[in-house]
Amino acid sequence: MRIPALLALLPLAFAASPNVQVEGSTCKVIPLGGGQDDGPNILSAFAQCGTDGTIVLDRYYVVNTVLVTTGLKNVGIELSGVVQYTPNIAYWSPNSLYLTFQNATTYWFLSGDNIHLYGGGTLDANGQVWWDYPNKTEGTAGGSSRSFARPVPLTVGNASNVVIEGLTEIGSPFWNNFVYQSTNITYRNINISTTSYSSNPTANSDGWDIYRSSYITIEDSTINNDDDCVSFKPNTTNVIVNNLHCNGSHGISVGSLGQYAGETDIVANIFANNIVMANAQNGARIKVFGGSPDANSTAGGGTGYVQASYCSDNITFQNFQVMNVDNPIYLNQCYDTDADVCAEYPSKLTISDVHYININGTSSGAEGSVVVDLECSTECQDITATNIHLTSPDGNATYVCANIASESMLDFPCTAPPNTTSTS
Ligand SMILES: *[C@@H]1O[C@H](CO)[C@@H](O)[C@H](O)[C@H]1NC(C)=O
Ligand SMILES: *[C@@H]1O[C@H](CO)[C@@H](O)[C@H](O)[C@H]1NC(C)=O
Ligand SMILES: *[C@@H]1O[C@H](CO)[C@@H](O)[C@H](O)[C@H]1NC(C)=O
Ligand SMILES: *[C@@H]1O[C@H](CO)[C@@H](O)[C@H](O)[C@H]1NC(C)=O
Ligand SMILES: *[C@@H]1O[C@H](CO)[C@@H](O)[C@H](O)[C@H]1NC(C)=O
Ligand SMILES: *[C@@H]1O[C@H](CO)[C@@H](O)[C@H](O)[C@H]1NC(C)=O
Ligand SMILES: *[C@@H]1O[C@H](CO)[C@@H](O)[C@H](O)[C@H]1NC(C)=O
Ligand SMILES: *[C@@H]1O[C@H](CO)[C@@H](O)[C@H](O)[C@H]1NC(C)=O
Ligand SMILES: *[C@@H]1O[C@H](CO)[C@@H](O)[C@H](O)[C@H]1NC(C)=O
Ligand SMILES: *[C@@H]1O[C@H](CO)[C@@H](O)[C@H](O)[C@H]1NC(C)=O
Ligand SMILES: *[C@@H]1O[C@H](CO)[C@@H](O)[C@H](O)[C@H]1NC(C)=O
Ligand SMILES: *[C@@H]1O[C@H](CO)[C@@H](O)[C@H](O)[C@H]1NC(C)=O
Repeated sequence: MRIPALLALLPLAFAASPNVQVEGSTCKVIPLGGGQDDGPNILSAFAQCGTDGTIVLDRYYVVNTVLVTTGLKNVGIELSGVVQYTPNIAYWSPNSLYLTFQNATTYWFLSGDNIHLYGGGTLDANGQVWWDYPNKTEGTAGGSSRSFARPVPLTVGNASNVVIEGLTEIGSPFWNNFVYQSTNITYRNINISTTSYSSNPTANSDGWDIYRSSYITIEDSTINNDDDCVSFKPNTTNVIVNNLHCNGSHGISVGSLGQYAGETDIVANIFANNIVMANAQNGARIKVFGGSPDANSTAGGGTGYVQASYCSDNITFQNFQVMNVDNPIYLNQCYDTDADVCAEYPSKLTISDVHYININGTSSGAEGSVVVDLECSTECQDITATNIHLTSPDGNATYVCANIASESMLDFPCTAPPNTTSTS
């Protein structure tokens, strides 16, 4: 038996709690129950067993404390229970950890080297309260202010050599997963469901966003959401996306890129394979903002490239099966930008070495008979399409192309885009 008086002398992070059972290098968290916050005990478990240890989360936990678990080393996290973040907007908006991209904040920042999270458990982010909030999409991305910032349930940040497998994520108020400044991260057997039960839709419910990261694998997972299934944000390289079933999403998306004038955005070496894409806005998508006359623009004008780093590498979208998808294949360099502005200031971001292979299925018909829309601002080099079997619901198919240098390497006949007319 320890002496309580001694406990008061220990630093808070290491304070022994009867609700953290330590056995050797394994720390098991026992829930407090009654809706009490288990966050401090979870943090205590990471502090005690976060190096060469195992953290066991096998019960139902209520978390009302931001989880910043950094400096981990050779750690196993058995998440076989449920971690539910409280629906406490007043707490989470100012206290979720602010990240430097698109005003994203997070409930849990998981960081360190050689981390294995497994166990078949669930992260429940209580999204409904955020979707039902009246001004949920006001401002930019995650939140316009720290009084309303929608957090990401799990961010793997400043991390290396991480495997996350066997996890269900429900009710994310924002992106489900953020891979931030990390390398060699694998996600496998992840089930994501972001579904609103009121008339208020979900918002920004991307499955994954990857930013400033390399050597990322996402495989064998199902995603049910209403925004990108996987999104490759600036400076994402060497990614394999394999065996995903995406429903209701906005597609496997490169971008958006080129948003910030003066910035250089790079996406290179992406291999997306065996994707079932149902009831979606896009299948294989590349989206880039137009140019901008404003040197400080935050809505276009950035530069960079989407391409392969070496001649053996590529950006490949392969073995896609689309069902009821508005734009099965879509490449656009005038994302969220006025057509007039794009005409006068075309995007300077270059796109090359993109391959579409074995893509079949039917569009939704939302774009009439258009099933492929590839529109580069200036010439894109080495874009190829092989074995494309797409139709619109009425059985016809048209393929719109602009500024594709390698048009002869597309196995469908291109038609020019209809002339754009000014909207303003
Ligand atoms: C929230 O949205 C409502 C309805 O659009 C608007 O009237 C109100 O001004 C907004 N509130 C704030 C704090 O911006
Ligand atoms: C964050 O939100 C503020 C306030 O809406 C906005 O001015 C800023 O551009 C946003 N930052 C980013 C990186 O989007
Ligand atoms: C992540 O790494 C960057 C650069 O090293 C550092 O500035 C930042 O504070 C780290 N973020 C967290 C939450 O530890
Ligand atoms: C990537 O991380 C996994 C899991 O920690 C590890 O087994 C593998 O060796 C790492 N790969 C490289 C190239 O470091
Ligand atoms: C994800 O869903 C699939 C299909 O329903 C199921 O086989 C698998 O076990 C689920 N994975 C997890 C981690 O729950
Ligand atoms: C798939 O997405 C559609 C459209 O968003 C939705 O109506 C349907 O319920 C989803 N299917 C499943 C199995 O969740
Ligand atoms: C991406 O990488 C380029 C080249 O290293 C760099 O100039 C740019 O600042 C990076 N962008 C981001 C968002 O990190
Ligand atoms: C851009 O921002 C910089 C620094 O804030 C400022 O000095 C400059 O005048 C701005 N340029 C324009 C064209 O607004
Ligand atoms: C693209 O790269 C992937 C991963 O490196 C490779 O498996 C695939 O064969 C390449 N495809 C083409 C068409 O070069
Ligand atoms: C599309 O491809 C899938 C998987 O390769 C195959 O099962 C399906 O029959 C194909 N559908 C069409 C319409 O070609
Ligand atoms: C399909 O295309 C053919 C040939 O252009 C045209 O005659 C036919 O009317 C189209 N069908 C529909 C339903 O639009
Ligand atoms: C579209 O614009 C081009 C170039 O301005 C012009 O040559 C062509 O006649 C226009 N086509 C239509 C259908 O208006």
